[in-house]
Amino acid sequence: MSPEVTRGAGDPLLAVDGLTIDLTGHGGQQGLVQDVTFAVHGGESVALIGESGCGKTMTAMAVLGLLPGGFTVTGGSIRFQGRDLLACSEREMRSVRGRSIGAIFQEPMSSLNPTMRVGDQIAEVRRLHFRENRKVALRRARELLDRVGIPDAEKRLASYPHELSGGMQQRVMIASAIACDPELVLADEPTTALDVTIQAEILELLRDLRREQGIAVLLVTHDLGVVADFCDRVVAMYAGSVVERSDVERLFGEPAHPYTRALLDAVPHTGRPRTVLPVIQGRVPAAGQFPTGCRFEPRCAHGGHDRCSVPQHEASLQDGRYTRCARIADGDLVLPEGRAR
Ligand SMILES: Nc1ncnc2c1ncn2[C@@H]1O[C@H](COP(=O)(O)OP(=O)(O)OP(=O)(O)O)[C@@H](O)[C@H]1O
Ligand code: SF4
Ligand SMILES: [Mg+2]
Repeated sequence: MSPEVTRGAGDPLLAVDGLTIDLTGHGGQQGLVQDVTFAVHGGESVALIGESGCGKTMTAMAVLGLLPGGFTVTGGSIRFQGRDLLACSEREMRSVRGRSIGAIFQEPMSSLNPTMRVGDQIAEVRRLHFRENRKVALRRARELLDRVGIPDAEKRLASYPHELSGGMQQRVMIASAIACDPELVLADEPTTALDVTIQAEILELLRDLRREQGIAVLLVTHDLGVVADFCDRVVAMYAGSVVERSDVERLFGEPAHPYTRALLDAVPHTGRPRTVLPVIQGRVPAAGQFPTGCRFEPRCAHGGHDRCSVPQHEASLQDGRYTRCARIADGDLVLPEGRAR
């Protein structure tokens, strides 16, 4: 029997609530992803940011039901269109993936089948979810290649992935991700492997898809310029936890959490010379080595306080912003307004 669907008007498209993932085995970590909460509403774009190893991809994989071996969801819920995805069987998840949630990854070649013509790969998604015959599905595949800006789409249907450039391969992956008109596209660093001009073109394509088809996007990225340009809201993660959630304007103008501040201060302000870029001292702890108190404490300029040595919980600030710093939540730490200069 399918999991119960409970979604009221105004409820988010995707609601991740208290998601916790443990990693077992050597170098294991309880709460590798700990108490992650965020939502994506229909048509909006939400960024998942944080340094390498913060748990962005594992969070995204949990949404897709594709966690690798050794990773187990041990707490929380993931609801998509009101449906509890964690209660879905693998067969049910297969009907969600590709149909209602499209996925785009950093390396198109790791997702495309090298032995299959791109037309057939895209058509296969339509055939699987809509049971279209090959001819109808291929016609749709040609339209999709055209839609994602691949020139001479008719001819390209017969190409193998290796015959295409990296940018074209990424367009094919996007065509495949949107083949069934999904409500949500999950894009994990979709442009990182591409050169700057192609990056801009791919982002423009994603922007058009949002505008024209109302597709919501959960974008995992390291690029804060892309976040500022493309996203409505931001979820900042550190060592497996969400440290701040905010709309884009306030996150950039007035970051609340010491980590988010440090992250933003590590990118240049307009007009500031690149030579004085601060870096955040230290690095994200490896799995198995997370501090028991605030996970950011070893690198935090405001650590060393009693409140920092206990596990941190998300606290609401004003205006729909959330942070995970007990000192800020208690009003014990008041950071200067705006960003550091
Ligand atoms: N296959 C794996 N086996 C063991 N640990 C892993 C594996 N993949 C990731 N990890 C660990 O899980 C944690 C979260 O990794 P994740 O890939 O989600 O980070 P990320 O935020 O996506 O980083 P990046 O920005 O580099 O992609 C890290 O501590 C990482 O070392
Ligand atoms: S709880 Fe303490 S260590 Fe953690 S971010 Fe806040 S001030 Fe820094
Ligand atoms: Mg990742």
